[in-house]
Amino acid sequence: MLDLLSFTSFSICLCLVLYLAQNQIRALSKVLFAKKEVVSDKERKLSSSNPKPSSLYGNSNGTIPKPTPLMINPDEVKNYDDRPWRPFRWPYHQTMSIFKLDINHWLDMDKYYQHYIDEKERIRLKYGEENFGMLPEGYDACVELMETVVDHMVERYPLLFTILKDGDWQTAGKVLKNEVTGEVLDMTRPLKDDPLVYVSKLAKEDFYVVLKNPQDGLHYMVAGAVPFPGGSFFIKDKLGNHIDTIHRDVPYYEKSLKKSMERWFGRMRPEDPVERASWYITWDAKLKVSNIYQTEKFFPNMEKDLEETDPRQFNVRVERQTLRRLPKTGAIIFTNHPIYYSIEEMKDEPMIPSILKKIIHEGPEDILKYKNFEMVRDKLSPYLDELIQRQKDLGLITDETPLKTQPNYPFAHWVKDNINVSENEGWNNPGTGYDKKHMKTEGFDASKLAGNE
Ligand code: HEM
Repeated sequence: MLDLLSFTSFSICLCLVLYLAQNQIRALSKVLFAKKEVVSDKERKLSSSNPKPSSLYGNSNGTIPKPTPLMINPDEVKNYDDRPWRPFRWPYHQTMSIFKLDINHWLDMDKYYQHYIDEKERIRLKYGEENFGMLPEGYDACVELMETVVDHMVERYPLLFTILKDGDWQTAGKVLKNEVTGEVLDMTRPLKDDPLVYVSKLAKEDFYVVLKNPQDGLHYMVAGAVPFPGGSFFIKDKLGNHIDTIHRDVPYYEKSLKKSMERWFGRMRPEDPVERASWYITWDAKLKVSNIYQTEKFFPNMEKDLEETDPRQFNVRVERQTLRRLPKTGAIIFTNHPIYYSIEEMKDEPMIPSILKKIIHEGPEDILKYKNFEMVRDKLSPYLDELIQRQKDLGLITDETPLKTQPNYPFAHWVKDNINVSENEGWNNPGTGYDKKHMKTEGFDASKLAGNE
């Protein structure tokens, strides 16, 4: 009897304890969730005044991306094609048009690598500060850039770059062999050369270094290794300038770019690299000054040269660009890399000739002027018409195919699902107008260049 009583009271107590505990847990969980809500409310408020980049523009998971190895050897580089850019949009609006960058493509490799590195060296020695410059306040950022480029090249292309002496960057530095050019680069401390010189012997991109001025909070260019500006400007005129001044001549900058760019620079994080591309048309494949930007003073035969050129030799010069922030100095690194694609090699790509023709005739007025489209369009129109008709005859397009930005923008339609990509050869254009072995720089002769190139 006593046992039964004590069991009953024990059970009641247990139930009471469980009930109380359950309520306590419920109450506690309410507090926890309420806290979470409060925190996320707060976050929401913070993020609305200082928005984080959306995932469209970057990884945003807090880690600085690292490249994966691409096992191509120095011989294979000679046959390697880079991603095929087709940054043609219709309607043509001036916007930031940035995309998340897969870090593997920060510093790309292709069959023109040796030519670009040779040209960088030639232009640096011949033109010096016209294309290369650094302000004292940019030094630390340039050193960080050099270290980042070396680390990237070694990780991404292990068969093309060999570390011969592996010291710590801060104290000892490294010695590296570029297996493509054969050059050994001694980057042990103290550095024997300007950090941008080493960078230029490693990567085929042009580099711009931008820092925020703590006094006015605005972004200025503090250094640049820019041998391939294409001819429309020189780096010595841009060095030390604010980003707005640098873009002063860019059409619709004030109206369409200025605000979003300054906001973007302010919030950009090291883990969110992006890329973009712009383009123009010319009838050469020169790197420092394209024919289209060659001035009469240096190239008096320009008009005659243009007249005599077969339209099949016309190229689109794509300026492929990336932006990333370095974690230590906070510098923004802007890279630019010209790649030439002939109109002929794109002739089997649906709507490409049609969009090109539309843009060079009906694009925004200031863009037509800035890119000198007026100079080439009469020459190109009959050729583009021929290609458009050819696409209709082949059934690639019809009269009803809408003229608009293509679905695989900013790349060629044939890279969809990476069908035409091979590990050792890169991207293989399947079009009938393309020959993989053909080099647009064949027969390049520096002694024949005009006075300003
Ligand atoms: C998201 C960032 C950026 C955007 C959207 C942007 C956009 C543009 C555009 C639209 C042009 C005209 C070229 C064309 O369309 O063919 C241009 C030119 C140029 N950009 Fe940028 N840019 C950016 C960042 C930078 C940075 C960081 C620098 C480095 C200092 C820079 C330096 C230049 C230079 C030197 C030119 C040539 C200007 C001239 O013709 O005098 N850009 N940019």
